[in-house]
Amino acid sequence: MTRPSLDNSLPPALNNDRLREGAPRSILAGRNRLRHRIIAVRTIFKCGKLPPYKKRRECLRSERSRFALSTLECFLMTATLFTPLTVGDLHLPNRVLMAPLTRSRAGAGNVPQAIAALYYAQRATAGLIISEATQICPEGQGYILTPGIHSAEQVAGWKRVTDAVHANGGRIVLQLWHVGRISHRSFQPNHGLPVAPSAIKPAGQAYTTEGPVDLETPRALETEEIAGIVAQYATAAGHAMDAGFDGVEIHAANGYLIDQFLCDKSNQRTDQYGGSIENRARFLAEVIAAVTARVGAGRTGVRISPEGRFNDVEDSAPQALFEHVVALAKSAGLAYLHVVEGDMTGGAVGRVDYLALRRAFGGVYIANHAYDAQRASNAIASGAIDAVAFGKDYIANPDLVTRLLLGAPLNPQHPETFYGGQAGGYIDYPALTAL
Ligand SMILES: Cc1cc2nc3c(=O)[nH]c(=O)nc-3n(C[C@H](O)[C@H](O)[C@H](O)COP(=O)(O)O)c2cc1C
Repeated sequence: MTRPSLDNSLPPALNNDRLREGAPRSILAGRNRLRHRIIAVRTIFKCGKLPPYKKRRECLRSERSRFALSTLECFLMTATLFTPLTVGDLHLPNRVLMAPLTRSRAGAGNVPQAIAALYYAQRATAGLIISEATQICPEGQGYILTPGIHSAEQVAGWKRVTDAVHANGGRIVLQLWHVGRISHRSFQPNHGLPVAPSAIKPAGQAYTTEGPVDLETPRALETEEIAGIVAQYATAAGHAMDAGFDGVEIHAANGYLIDQFLCDKSNQRTDQYGGSIENRARFLAEVIAAVTARVGAGRTGVRISPEGRFNDVEDSAPQALFEHVVALAKSAGLAYLHVVEGDMTGGAVGRVDYLALRRAFGGVYIANHAYDAQRASNAIASGAIDAVAFGKDYIANPDLVTRLLLGAPLNPQHPETFYGGQAGGYIDYPALTAL
């Protein structure tokens, strides 16, 4: 993609280094300046291009328009974040996406509550919302108050959410989740053991109604059971479409069931689902095939975390493993590849060449993990990525797109309300409406 060049679009008088240098420093300089920026951005949006030359020259004469001009510069410099993007069957107006974020606020029966509709609708200006991880079946649950997509009540609860997002002009896909061994008997039907590729006890704790308890040694799935779980993914994807979602994201990241199959630390099977990379990726390949057959590849994405050690997974050869995974995603024609480019446990990274994964996929590459506006813009402009999914920033900033567009400050985050509770820290982060 070609970035607009300021040098070609501005007359010489406006195109000097002093002005250009001054512009970024003025971004956070106060409410008045922000107001002028909003006026200028609105002007751009109304006419869809730079105002005519004469108007720009007039503008420069007043102090007010110095800031309007710097806004034009900012807009052009960061245009790549706000450039539309086609993702499979979806057309996104910008590349500021909302990452999947578990908020543990579902109601009885793990049904999304009305307040969830407000929460997601507040964030509808995102290019795309990826919902919080949502269990595909009762066995797939591992945390309290996470929503499901396996009962009629849950589908109806999600319908309220998708309706609210669509009414506000947004797009939303559902993240399909099975936690595998990151569960506890108290979540399981008949209080059986959680299931996993192998009977290997993960380090860590489950968060149950009784509080945190040590994770248990799971039961290794019988070979014959696996097709049933693959079918549950497809059924859940169908339910997501019934609930009005625009698509689904297969959660193959962060140490949950699919990642447990992928990584050799958690998968020591000796059947066709263990051993070689091809065998360990077979479960994901079958899930992709079943889900795309149900909802279409143009409405299916996949999330991976090649260097993630969260939930006690790790692979001895992540580059080779995830190049194979990416090849599967490519041959299935998935709408996008969503990559957590880091380790949520804060461990060392650097073993994976993300650019190589991006090139191997060839389609839309969504990056996540510790991106801010500048890093995101640079990465998009350089062609390294196509879009960014913002996580914690989206919890705290319902109008993140507007704030990034204006260079406005972000709200402080309140991690103590990330998981659980009700409205506080959920729907009450302020937008910039008072400006
Ligand atoms: C409160 C919270 C909940 C999360 N829930 C999910 C989830 O449901 N599914 C998922 O794939 N990742 C989940 N993540 C990981 C985020 O999607 C994201 O990868 C992480 O926050 C890093 O992105 P960031 O640096 O933009 O915050 C969660 C992270 C946080 C902080």
